[in-house]
Amino acid sequence: MKFAATAQSPYGIKCDCLVEFVNKNGINAIAKDTPTAVTQAINHLRQQGDLSESAHARMVYPEGEASAKRILVVPVEFELKANSPAHTTGKHLSGIANTIAKAISDYPIKDLVIHFDDRFMHSAPLSDQDGVRDAQVFTAALLNAVYKSDAFKGKETQDKNKKKLKSLPGLAKVTLATQDAELKDVKQGLVQGEAVGLGMITARNLGDAPPNICNPQYFTAEAKKLAKKHPKLTVKVLGEKELKALGAGAYLAVTQGSANPPQLITMEYKGGKASDKPICFVGKGLTFDSGGISIKPGAGMDEMKYDMCGAGSVMGVMQAAAELKLPINIVGAIAAAENMPASNATRPGDIVTTMSGQTVEILNTDAEGRLVLCDTLTYVQDKFKPQVVINMATLTGACIVALGHHTAAVMGNTPELTQELQELSLKVNDPIWELPLWSEYTDDLKSPFADIPNIAGGRGAGTIIAGCYLQKFIKDVPWAHLDIAGVAWNSGAAKGATGRPVHLLMQYLFKQLDTKPASDKAAGPAVRKRKPTARKTTVKK
Ligand code: BES
Ligand code: MN
Ligand code: ZN
Repeated sequence: MKFAATAQSPYGIKCDCLVEFVNKNGINAIAKDTPTAVTQAINHLRQQGDLSESAHARMVYPEGEASAKRILVVPVEFELKANSPAHTTGKHLSGIANTIAKAISDYPIKDLVIHFDDRFMHSAPLSDQDGVRDAQVFTAALLNAVYKSDAFKGKETQDKNKKKLKSLPGLAKVTLATQDAELKDVKQGLVQGEAVGLGMITARNLGDAPPNICNPQYFTAEAKKLAKKHPKLTVKVLGEKELKALGAGAYLAVTQGSANPPQLITMEYKGGKASDKPICFVGKGLTFDSGGISIKPGAGMDEMKYDMCGAGSVMGVMQAAAELKLPINIVGAIAAAENMPASNATRPGDIVTTMSGQTVEILNTDAEGRLVLCDTLTYVQDKFKPQVVINMATLTGACIVALGHHTAAVMGNTPELTQELQELSLKVNDPIWELPLWSEYTDDLKSPFADIPNIAGGRGAGTIIAGCYLQKFIKDVPWAHLDIAGVAWNSGAAKGATGRPVHLLMQYLFKQLDTKPASDKAAGPAVRKRKPTARKTTVKK
């Protein structure tokens, strides 16, 4: 699927379908040149009362002269109040993208033109309008809304799907038609959004892949594939032998009952100056978490193939950053492993020595994410001397109890970092919310035999306790931990990985570029604030 932006009038572009946004009065975007055929079609819908409900898109056929074969009329109602949560705008734009994807899914539409005027799509003057970000959020959301993989269907089904123009992957081109004054911002946002969207899709594909295919070795192969495409990206893999030599006792304890050996994969992307310290992302990559000897209940256990979604997001970010040629240095580390029961598996009560030298009493083999992460965190801090470390992990079921499936948790040792991440997450509708790592919680991590246990004695605050455990392995570096257990995948009828939090992490990278001193700034795509423009609406009746 190709994305393009243009300042050409949407009414002059031949296409299978034109998307027009209208408000509840049936008034479409700020265009003086709306052809009668389009105006009439919209008026007709309005007269029938068919535009009264928002979120319902209507397909209409223009009578007479029009460059589009069909017009998808999408009612948008949006009001940003002073007390609206900060992710309202992004949620609204993603919602529009989803509505469009759903509405066109039954039609053989190959090229789509969207009358993209974000002032109209918001349908209200915004104090915090940002044309770049709007186009970025919209593009990434649309890409994800139309994408569905059939990689694990049988050949016959795949062949059928290929022939069916009706299926969404048949959509070949999407053009955002905007105004001259907006074109630069929309183009920039579109380029960013496309890379972000594809990064999310990579994370989704890895998440959805079955655990007999997507094992630690598979991650290594994927990382190497990515590095082959991008000369500035190099991969290093530590296997069982290397981890032993480094003294990664906690990591190895998780994986010792599995026939699939561990792989600690580091991807180094060098887009910045050699002297720039890297931004380091670390992902929990449990390609399957059975719980080990502390085995999980059977119902829904298949979903523990998603226990590698932190690692999947690292892969998605490395891909997007390399694709955009961002002028910064990034390290992506993936702690890939499989947690299985076996006669040689770790027992509850086993004590191991971590790479940091601290000993850990493993009271529950199902609290394994923190065990692979603690050694990986030690490794990346020692090896890469990063300026900042951000780790992503489907770490605790307790996080779902605390925040449900909308919001991920963030914890850390630097309030400026956790707050910055929280703010950015809301702007791109990939929301996270901070939980405290206070000493009252850390004090719960006491073992009579080892330096620390891997779980606390008490019952509450499981997400925070896991964060406190990780913090014991952080030295002198700003660090944030994202618990994505509730947001990384959807269950039920719409089962599938979400690609979160790739968008947030990319937005963090864009922001770092944007706030670098001017002399230091390369031409990479940053997020710019748009100058406020007066809002003019030409009412067509
Ligand atoms: N991968 C799980 C956490 C999880 C469970 C994520 C369900 C999403 C849905 C993690 O390894 C785990 O098992 N955590 C335990 C920790 C407990 C033993 C302290 C949990 O949450 O039950
Ligand atoms: Mn577990
Ligand atoms: Zn796990």
